[in-house]
Amino acid sequence: MDSRLTTIMNFVPKGSRVADIGTDHGYLAIELIKKNIAKFVIASDKNSKPLAAAQKNIKEAGVENSVDLRLGDGLKALKAGEVDVICIAGMGGALMCDILNTSLEIVATVDKIILQPMNVSERVRQWAVDNHFYIEDEDLAEVDDIIYEIIYLSRTFNELQSTRKANSPLYNKFIKTKINKLQKVVDSMTKSETAKTSDKYTEIENQIIELKAKLNENTNRTDCM
Ligand SMILES: C[S@@+](CC[C@H](N)C(=O)[O-])C[C@H]1O[C@@H](n2cnc3c(N)ncnc32)[C@H](O)[C@@H]1O
Repeated sequence: MDSRLTTIMNFVPKGSRVADIGTDHGYLAIELIKKNIAKFVIASDKNSKPLAAAQKNIKEAGVENSVDLRLGDGLKALKAGEVDVICIAGMGGALMCDILNTSLEIVATVDKIILQPMNVSERVRQWAVDNHFYIEDEDLAEVDDIIYEIIYLSRTFNELQSTRKANSPLYNKFIKTKINKLQKVVDSMTKSETAKTSDKYTEIENQIIELKAKLNENTNRTDCM
């Protein structure tokens, strides 16, 4: 299992009943049982091919008694009250929001949601605010030079001094990558007079300023440690 899935797993409270939505290979479900973290896992996928791969891996790992495999679209694979924690990893942020919005009656029965969006993580954050979840913690993981964001949502507010993400050795690299991506957008917009005077241009420039301030703040903080 790679560090992305390990980082997700580290957020799962011990003894919880977990749903792994879009399980694909089933690796997260398998590790959650093997490491004795989850009591049981409902591992679901919309497509039968990945589900068949998961079934094979789960059997080989000998955890088939603790993992319930289900074919289904999003949270429709679940009944209300079956799990305490929902994990959705490796999908786009917009799809994650759709999956959650389509089954708010299931969302209403869980305490924690762990999301690892492949893009537009700001949409996931906005979903949390709109649906009365707190971002309890966050972390970063790097695999093959790509940094992934893992967002841990909770129904209850627990104030943290500092998130795992802010303390992550990947944090500065993550912020720099974001700045570089936005800078490329700004540079290409500069070529067009209309784009250069648009609200979007100003918005992206402001985002870059904010990110640079965060980077400075974090660099100063870690220099003092
Ligand atoms: C890229 S894989 C990610 C697998 C795994 N969660 C991970 O992070 O390594 C995405 C999986 O989500 C499944 N999927 C996509 N849309 C889905 C949906 N609406 N409901 C359930 N599964 C879905 C796909 O079939 C695929 O197996």
